[in-house]
Amino acid sequence: MKKILITGGAGFIGSHVVREFVNKYPDHAIINLDALTYAGNLENLRDIEGKANYTFVKADITDAAQILAIFREYQPDGVIHLAAESHVDRSITDPNAFVMTNVIGTVNLLNAAKEIWADNYEGKRFHHVSTDEVYGALGDTGLFTETTPYDPHSPYSASKASSDHFVRAYQDTYGLPIVITNCSNNYGPHHFPEKLIPLCIHNILNNKPLPIYGDGKFTRDWLYVIDHAKAIDLVYHNGRDGEAYNVGGFNEWQNIDLVKELCKQMDEKLGRPAGTSARLIAFVKDRPGHDLRYAIDATKINRELGYEPSVTFEEGLGMTIDWYLDNQEWLNNVTSGDYQKYYEGQYRGLGG
Ligand code: NAD
Ligand code: DAU
Repeated sequence: MKKILITGGAGFIGSHVVREFVNKYPDHAIINLDALTYAGNLENLRDIEGKANYTFVKADITDAAQILAIFREYQPDGVIHLAAESHVDRSITDPNAFVMTNVIGTVNLLNAAKEIWADNYEGKRFHHVSTDEVYGALGDTGLFTETTPYDPHSPYSASKASSDHFVRAYQDTYGLPIVITNCSNNYGPHHFPEKLIPLCIHNILNNKPLPIYGDGKFTRDWLYVIDHAKAIDLVYHNGRDGEAYNVGGFNEWQNIDLVKELCKQMDEKLGRPAGTSARLIAFVKDRPGHDLRYAIDATKINRELGYEPSVTFEEGLGMTIDWYLDNQEWLNNVTSGDYQKYYEGQYRGLGG
């Protein structure tokens, strides 16, 4: 039986990856390793937690000894590494946490894989899940390709860029069989409401202001999270050793247009008069070092592996809103306690 260890499997994207692998590969043992930080939530996996091929291990990737012991115990053939501190705004207030988890944690996993695989790399793979933010910011035109030079601007993207370099260094130095995926912005069910789309859904439901940084003209390329999970499956199984694959949906939106579209769909679904939610839009102080535009050229993964997103943005956004409307208890649970403190610190003076 093949054993695949997935890190960060209780988080937003990781939970969709775990679900995809547990359901699609009943003959593979899937081990979900997660520290359950504020962003990790086992509620995200209730539907698969009883499956015979699923195991959860609570562990912190910054603890090298604990990680090595887990690798020795479970002897994974493959690693899909998603565990990370993932929010840019938090990286601006606490960069060290990002260095610890994203850089040191990744190196701890690389060391453990190298140690237990002991130079016998047949059938082994270390898949590092990274971001398009490592490439920096685009102007009004152009797309990120796999050969775009790294130029990170936030402590978050600098830590992810650093982790990518370590992953490549372990391939070049020790021959570790690695692949990297660099994906654009994800959206969908179980997205933590510190990020733009779920934060706005939560605020619309509570008639609170929708904070738009700067002039709202910043552009992101949005992909439905299940389509990211499917891309990870394809690259993990069929990608070429040592290669990076960009993942994206050719789906660029300026933040202000995206939030207006979200407001329109929310008004329709909530039966509120058109324009109700859009009146909540509030322009606020910009994010320091805010990258103007991200846009992915996903030609390589399409050409080599036949990858294509399965849903349009309109469908994906509709399904996402429906999920939040049907799961308000999930939303209420994750926005109680510490979230309130975070929100008040981040959006001081916004009111609502
Ligand atoms: P998330 O913040 O929702 O989840 C992160 C998970 O990692 C949580 O379950 C958390 O408990 C766990 N974790 C954090 N620190 C840990 C530690 N020290 N040890 C063990 N587990 C720890 O993140 P996400 O949005 O699901 O992102 C997952 C990965 O995908 C990240 O590596 C991120 O950089 C990358 N990524 C995210 C996006 C996006 O739009 N969200 C896009 C591209 C790439
Ligand atoms: O591009 C991939 C990245 O996408 C991932 O690597 C990150 O983990 C993920 O968090 C995401 O980063 P962003 O910074 O692009 O996502 P966020 O949802 O925080 O912000 C999206 C855009 O919306 C960005 O231009 C900032 C803006 N924004 C965000 C928030 C939270 C606002 O205008 N107001 C807000 O309150």
